[in-house]
Amino acid sequence: MKVIKETDLKVLFTADLIQEKIKELGLVLNEKYKDEDLYLICVLKGSIMFMVDIAKHLKMPVKMEFIRLSSYGSGFTSTGKVNAVDIALPDLSDKNVLIIEDIVDTGHTAKFLLDFINHSFKPKTIAFCSLLDKKCKREVEIEPDFYCLDVDDKFLVGYGLDYDGYFRNIPYIGYVEN
Ligand code: IMP
Ligand code: MG
Repeated sequence: MKVIKETDLKVLFTADLIQEKIKELGLVLNEKYKDEDLYLICVLKGSIMFMVDIAKHLKMPVKMEFIRLSSYGSGFTSTGKVNAVDIALPDLSDKNVLIIEDIVDTGHTAKFLLDFINHSFKPKTIAFCSLLDKKCKREVEIEPDFYCLDVDDKFLVGYGLDYDGYFRNIPYIGYVEN
C-alpha cells in the first residue's frame, strides 16, 4: 500500500468550514426532531468525529449508539459488499433513528443499514445523515436525508475518514493529488 504523509495532502474543507456546516445542520435537526427522543447511530469508525460534533448541537433528548460494518477493502476502492461486523444496538422499535455516516459513496452501506435496521426493528422514523455526499460514485439509488457537503470523485481523508487507518484524527478534510 502506498505510503501517504500528511504533507502530501491538499486541503479540501477546513476545520472551520466543517464546523460551520455542522452547526447549520444542527439547526435543521433541532427543528425536524423538536421535542422528540432521538437515537443517533454512529457508523464506526469514520463517523466518530461527525457524531461527536453534531451531537453537541442537538437540543432534544439524545442517545448515542454505535455500529461497525465492513465494506471497504484496503486502499481507495469500495468492495460493494457490506457486513455488520459488530452489532450492539438497543431495541429501536418505535424510536426515532438517525444514522450518522461520514460519507455516502456507492450507497451500498447506506442501503444495507437502512434495510438492516428497518427489518430488525420497526422504528417510528428512520433517516440517514451524512457529512459528505459523493453523488458521482453512486451504484444504488439512495440519497441521504441530511448532508453537509457535496464532494466529487476524490479519495478523501481526515475528520474521521482514513487511508489504511491513518488520518482520522486530522481536523480538516484533504485529498491526495494524483
Ligand atoms: P459506500 O458503501 O460505497 O457508500 O461507502 C461508504 C463507506 O466507504 C464510508 O462510510 C467510508 O468509510 C468509505 N469511503 C467512501 N469514500 C471514501 C473516501 O473518499 N475516503 C475514505 N473513506 C471513504
Ligand atoms: Mg464509513
